[in-house]
Amino acid sequence: MRMLALYSIKGGVGKTASAVNLAAQAARAGYRVLLWDLDPQAATSFYLRTKPKVRGGVEKLVKGKASFDKVIRATQMENIDLLPAALASREMDRLLAKRGNSHLRQILKPVRDDYDLVILDCPPSLSHLSENIFSSVDALLVPVVPTTLSLRTLEQLRDFLDDRDQDCTFWPFITLADRRRKLHCEVIDTMQAQWPLMLSTVIPSASVVERMGLERAPVHAFAPRSVAARNYQALWHELDQRLG
Ligand SMILES: Nc1ncnc2c1ncn2[C@@H]1O[C@H](COP(=O)(O)OP(=O)(O)O)[C@@H](O)[C@H]1O
Ligand SMILES: [Mg+2]
Repeated sequence: MRMLALYSIKGGVGKTASAVNLAAQAARAGYRVLLWDLDPQAATSFYLRTKPKVRGGVEKLVKGKASFDKVIRATQMENIDLLPAALASREMDRLLAKRGNSHLRQILKPVRDDYDLVILDCPPSLSHLSENIFSSVDALLVPVVPTTLSLRTLEQLRDFLDDRDQDCTFWPFITLADRRRKLHCEVIDTMQAQWPLMLSTVIPSASVVERMGLERAPVHAFAPRSVAARNYQALWHELDQRLG
């Protein structure tokens, strides 16, 4: 069971859109995918038409006492199940503070044979939750909007991980790119030079991605031939190869 997290300290950079679209592409490739919505704002749960509620409560889940056949929900998408978010997910941070490293992975132990891939959609924070994410996943996927400030955000994240000796693999990739903007192109070039582990697929800014909120589905479900759908597919292929 591989675990990936869409993570950034910044909000509005495409974590949720990427989590849902990458899950859709992995599912199309035949992977059994579990999407875990860790953001109390519950946008992933919304896109997958699922009530933002953790049945039985977050505390039970963290203590390993949840019954997964109730907590995990099937979605309208074949091969994608969802562990929804809840406002109560804010409690998660407090509860995880008392737990050891990799506890998020521990929580999923009872279902580890049911899924090939777990994708975490994370809130934009540095917290006990995020530290637990760092120790649980095979890699962090960090969406970066090509602006100069985003470069700083990446450096801050790298420094944070270094300071804590947390050797968490992290793979940045570019989202919301507009190739018509000279600055975007320049920043993309700089990033690719400075961050050798950067994924090479660039996700463009595209109105079909915004339409996900109306369709409540991954892009591939309603615009399979769009440039964005093809880019998410390419990004997934690249990840699949790295995961080996
Ligand atoms: N590639 C994209 N092209 C156009 N709009 C996008 C793209 N990715 C995300 N968005 C939009 O940007 C906003 C923030 O994206 P979201 O995935 O929710 O970010 P985050 O989860 O990092 O806060 C949303 O309104 C979403 O529809
Ligand atoms: Mg989000």
